Parts: sequence; C-alpha cells; structure tokens
Amino acid sequence: MYAITIPEPGGPEALVWTEVPDPELGEGEVLVDVAASAVNRADVLQRQGYYDPPPGASPYPGLECAGRISALGPGVSGWSVGDEVCALLAGGGYAQKVAVPAGQLLPVPKGVDLAHAAALPEVAATVWSNVFMVAHLRPGETLLVHGGASGIGTMAIQLAKAVGARVAVTASGGRKLDHCAELGADVLIDYREQDFVVEVRKATDGAGADVILDIMGAKYLSRNVDALAVNGRLAIIGLQGGAKAELDLGKLLAKRAAVMATTLRARPLAEKASIIAAVREHVWPLIESGRVKPVVDRTIAMREVAEAHRVVEASEHVGKVVLVA
Ligand SMILES: NC(=O)c1ccc[n+]([C@@H]2O[C@H](COP(=O)([O-])OP(=O)(O)OC[C@H]3O[C@@H](n4cnc5c(N)ncnc54)[C@H](OP(=O)(O)O)[C@@H]3O)[C@@H](O)[C@H]2O)c1
Repeated sequence: MYAITIPEPGGPEALVWTEVPDPELGEGEVLVDVAASAVNRADVLQRQGYYDPPPGASPYPGLECAGRISALGPGVSGWSVGDEVCALLAGGGYAQKVAVPAGQLLPVPKGVDLAHAAALPEVAATVWSNVFMVAHLRPGETLLVHGGASGIGTMAIQLAKAVGARVAVTASGGRKLDHCAELGADVLIDYREQDFVVEVRKATDGAGADVILDIMGAKYLSRNVDALAVNGRLAIIGLQGGAKAELDLGKLLAKRAAVMATTLRARPLAEKASIIAAVREHVWPLIESGRVKPVVDRTIAMREVAEAHRVVEASEHVGKVVLVA
C-alpha cells in the first residue's frame, strides 16, 4: 500500500507519499480500506518531530479515518467485511489501509458521506470525553471554548448547544466568529481585540464560565482561572501557548474550582473503547438527526497533504481539513 511517511522531520514538504508494507492485523483488530482521513494539529507536531506516536502505534500520521472494513482479525465480533466505518486511531490514517482496534470503530452515521465521517472521530471523542465525561457540562451552564472555529471548537459549540448549555467562544476576528455564530455560539470574543475574562464576566452577570475547554495551556492559565465561575471546571487539552505557568491555588480554593488536563492518543485501549461507546450513544444520534454536523472546510487529495498542512498551520480553515485517498 501507499502511506504518507516522514523520512525526516520538517515543514509540510517532509510528508512523502511512499510505498510501504500493508499493516498486519493483531488480535481484536480490523483492516480498514481508507477512503478519507483528516488533519489534526497533532499531526503538524508529529511532522515537525515534536510528537512521537505512542509505543505500538503506526509510525504514519493520521488520528482518524473513514472507509470500509476489508478483513477481520482474530477475536473480532459485531463487525463484517464491507461495513462502512469511521475510526479513532493512534496513527496511520494517512494511508490506503490501516489496522484498527475494534473498540475504536464507529458506524458511518446515517446521512453522512465517508469524507465527512472522517472529520468526526477525533473531535467527537475529544469533546465528549473532556466537556461531558470529565468536566460534566450541564444544561443551563456556560461553556467557554477557546479557538471556537477550530476542528475541536466547531464540535464543542454544537454539542454544548445540543445539551442546552450557553456557549462563549474566542477566535481571531470576524470571519471565524461569524462561523461560530452560525453553529450556535452565543458570546463571540475576538481574542486579538478583547479580553476574554472581561467579556465572559459581562455575558454571565459577573459569574464567569462553568466550564472552559482550553487549547492554549500556559499562556491562558491565569486568565482562565479568573474567567471560571464558582465550582468551575477548566479542561486543558492543548498547549499551543506553552506547558509551564504559575497557578494561583488561592483563587482555585476560593472558587472551589478544578483544573484538569487530558490527552486522548496515549490512553489505554479500554479507555478509548469506553469513550467511543459513549460517543456512539450520545453524539451519533445528534449527528443522525442533523442537530450536529461535521464541519469540513475543504477536502484535499491525500498525496497533496503538504498543502493541507500548510492550510492548517496558517489557520486558514474553519472546522476540519479532510484528506481523500
Ligand atoms: N488532548 C487531546 O486529546 C486533544 C485532542 C485533539 C486536539 N487537541 C488539541 O486541541 C487543539 C485544537 O485542535 P484542532 O486539530 O481542532 O486544531 P485547529 O483546527 O488547527 O485549531 C487551532 C485553533 O487554535 C486557535 N488559536 C490560536 N491562537 C489562539 C489564541 N491565542 N486564543 C484562542 N484560540 C487560538 C486558532 O484560532 P484562530 O485561527 O481564530 O486564531 C485555531 O482555531 C490543538 O491544540 C490540539 O492539539 C487535543
């Protein structure tokens, strides 16, 4: 088969369409013929040499895919050759074939084509596990989403609105904030011009956000704590603004607030399977009813992946950039 390999870390040109051996199926895995994958910011870090795949994972980038099952490994039940699926991966989505642990498979939602289905697993699993399973966002609460127009952000806005929460977002100005508003965001904050702490307090009668989904890490830590409401929960999933910062525990004590940080890729198979089961139970019906939609900025041929990475690094996109095999 062919896959995108990274012979040497570097810029987008470091991604090379290469003939490689087909994946071997292990116990509990299925082989998926990949129709589409999607770009995640983590793939950019992997390409640059800053984010190695976890032990045992495919060396090729690609944290999600959609396609058809072409073979079943030993011990797999409940899936058949020919099923259309999408999947959460620890790597290997930028390829013509990938071996997937069966617990990380989802059926392609009714009414969604394979290219759009490839845009769903990573954002649905990350947002559901953090905003709902870890931070327990409830109806009527306020969620602040940093980077509302990102792949993650576009899913977070829609899921939070679907459960009856209020949503504030940050993004870099008009066009991106307009997209967030179309997805249902209630409070639009241009982080280049406005102070999100002031804006979130203004929008909540001084109370602050009950849950914050953060992708900036160190750069926003202190201001995120300031923007939290009493009993607030700060879920950090990205470190785009660095990993080390001072945390004022006094403010956390006074607010009885919590700070948590998680990553999906390196979790044990059983944890990923339970997140995927929760996504299938809670998120899939919202997608099949049309209440929540995959947001795809553009599709690009997989062998043109360098262009897709350029778009994502320049943050020209809203939602996801999909790669079609
Ligand atoms: N922990 C996990 O399990 C996990 C899983 C998936 C993703 N993530 C993380 O989640 C983040 C989003 O991932 P993605 O693939 O959806 O990326 P993406 O689509 O490339 O989005 C990155 C976003 O960062 C926003 N941003 C940049 N500077 C900002 C600032 N100062 N304030 C607020 N927003 C800012 C950009 O907004 P503008 O374009 O408007 O500037 C852009 O929308 C990444 O950090 C990724 O590593 C973590």
